[in-house]
Amino acid sequence: MANTVLVGAQWGDEGKGKVVDVLARDADIVVRYQGGSNAGHTLELGPDRYVLHLVPSGVLYPEKLCVIGNGVVVDPLELKQEAEALIARGIPLRGRFWVSDRAHAVLPFHRRQDAARESGAPIGQRLGTTQRGIGPAYADKAHRTGIRMGEFLRPGWEDKVRVRAQEHGGSDGKEMVALLREAAEFLRSFITDTTHLLHEQWKKGKAILFEGAQGTMLDVDHGTYPFVTSSNATAGGASTGTGLPPKAIERVVGVLKVYTTRVGEGPFPTELKDETGELLRRRGREFGATTGRPRRCGWFDAVVARYAAAVNGVDCWAMTKLDVLDECEILRVCVAYEYEGCRIETVPAEAEIYAACRPVYEEFPGWKTSTSSIHRYEDLPVAARSYVEALCRLTGVPLGLLSVGPDRANTFRLAL
Ligand code: GDP
Ligand code: IMO
Ligand code: MG
Repeated sequence: MANTVLVGAQWGDEGKGKVVDVLARDADIVVRYQGGSNAGHTLELGPDRYVLHLVPSGVLYPEKLCVIGNGVVVDPLELKQEAEALIARGIPLRGRFWVSDRAHAVLPFHRRQDAARESGAPIGQRLGTTQRGIGPAYADKAHRTGIRMGEFLRPGWEDKVRVRAQEHGGSDGKEMVALLREAAEFLRSFITDTTHLLHEQWKKGKAILFEGAQGTMLDVDHGTYPFVTSSNATAGGASTGTGLPPKAIERVVGVLKVYTTRVGEGPFPTELKDETGELLRRRGREFGATTGRPRRCGWFDAVVARYAAAVNGVDCWAMTKLDVLDECEILRVCVAYEYEGCRIETVPAEAEIYAACRPVYEEFPGWKTSTSSIHRYEDLPVAARSYVEALCRLTGVPLGLLSVGPDRANTFRLAL
């Protein structure tokens, strides 16, 4: 398999976890490059369901290496819990799961700061974060006051944590240190120089799958700022977030839902606040994998997808959740926006302008047939294929994989 970056092409929750799990069969290594436990990646195998926040979605294949790269922010307490839960379910981690010593730690005061900012912000300025401390941890990294995972391997980190806790206005430094000591003890055998490890593997010709978290429209540079996360979720982040150079990346796969969802605040031109939105939420089980919040649902936005294709250099799409549209009479696809009487075909930089954009729709007939028990692309109803092919035409990117259900088995691999 070519070294592949798998990136969310919308506002997150596109089904990246499922697609990584499918593609990981042909990879040797799966590496997360950004984000933290704000991510919630769901894998379903028959009756077994796994929701991963930090551990890469290749973990269900016992022979694959799984790496948390330097660009990720790691909450040691959450990682310990997640790793222990996986081990308890019979999934081995020792000797094949690694955490970068350069990755920054998310500490309890970061989470507190995140929550306080959200509850203290006036309505309209709230971001609707996952309250996992992501923004404050990346801010400390940029301020050069962060604590990195490698520091937990050496004596003396406790004092630094106490000082930082005080600086962040916390008074529970002692308790925090005790909790962190347990997590650090548990994690120490997993922490290593993953940049070196990845380079060794790359030199040996091993196939690397880079697992993006969040999505293009949540990227701190390219998303709907300030309603974004604090990292580069786009394909470029795969290099800075792992230490592998851009030339190590041979292919980019964009993951797209065949409709759109967003969780948290911020502009969303094709949002449906009516019964169709409700239908998508119910059929798509659109409730956050991390916070349980209902996701906002709407029609497919080809302007967003085209933008994501450009920013990431997408070679092919992995489209998910076609089955969710099975009951729809008609489908709408946003092909452009209207802003102050003008038609625009790009994503504006300003969130305020974006919020005032109205979608221009094209309509497509629904198929009103269940697709989730179909096993071959050719056997899909004609209207379903026409819809998928229209999304490819409107975005100028071919289809690599199509998913018609949450299980590994509900997947058509066309060119992936
Ligand atoms: P991620 O964050 O991009 O990994 O996506 P999430 O796991 O947060 O959300 C995607 C949800 O859709 C999960 O519950 C998946 O099990 C589910 N899912 C993925 N692909 C499909 C599909 O083709 N059809 C249906 N019905 N569900 C899917
Ligand atoms: P996965 O990897 C969907 C959203 C939050 C909020 C904004 C900022 O599962 O696709 P943060 O906690 O990151 O500071 O929140 O980003 N958000 C996500 N939305 N999927 C995610 O991850 C997300 N991670 C963050 O809802 O709007
Ligand atoms: Mg998710």
